[in-house]
Amino acid sequence: MLSKKMEEALNGQINKEMYSAYLYMSMSAHSTNVGLPGFANWFMVQYNEEMEHAMKIYDYVNDQGGKIKLKAIDEPLSTFKDAMDMFQKTLKHEQFITKSINELVDLAIKEKDHATQIFLQWFVTEQIEEEGNDNDIIAKLELAGDKGNGLFMIDKEIGARVYAPPVDEKQD
Ligand code: FEO
Repeated sequence: MLSKKMEEALNGQINKEMYSAYLYMSMSAHSTNVGLPGFANWFMVQYNEEMEHAMKIYDYVNDQGGKIKLKAIDEPLSTFKDAMDMFQKTLKHEQFITKSINELVDLAIKEKDHATQIFLQWFVTEQIEEEGNDNDIIAKLELAGDKGNGLFMIDKEIGARVYAPPVDEKQD
């Protein structure tokens, strides 16, 4: 069972994950427009992962007998200076999401909600991976340059990213 506070905070996180999906969808579209299909693919995989994050919380709230309350999704940016700008914005956004997940854990501890604490551990780990991926690509862009051949190579490399849908862990 979820407390009202916890339920509200988890609903808020669904909205943040949906916004994340929207933001990366927008970056994917922008990448297509400027002729970077690999970046477009990478951000579309990211979009799918964010939808998965939102649905994970949605399912959890339902499983706990909570009430889903969907809120309006903010409009994301639609133009970006260059690939580096997109990844710096991505990293900044993921740092914001990490902070939000940490606040949810803090609340679960305060509410003595052990189930939600355990549920959120997956997100704590996921955020390490998300920030790590962004830092890696930023480092590559710094090293190889944000234009010409270097950018072409990075576009090719990250174009190979494949979305792996989650395996249903439920045994019922
Ligand atoms: Fe769902 Fe990128 O955090």
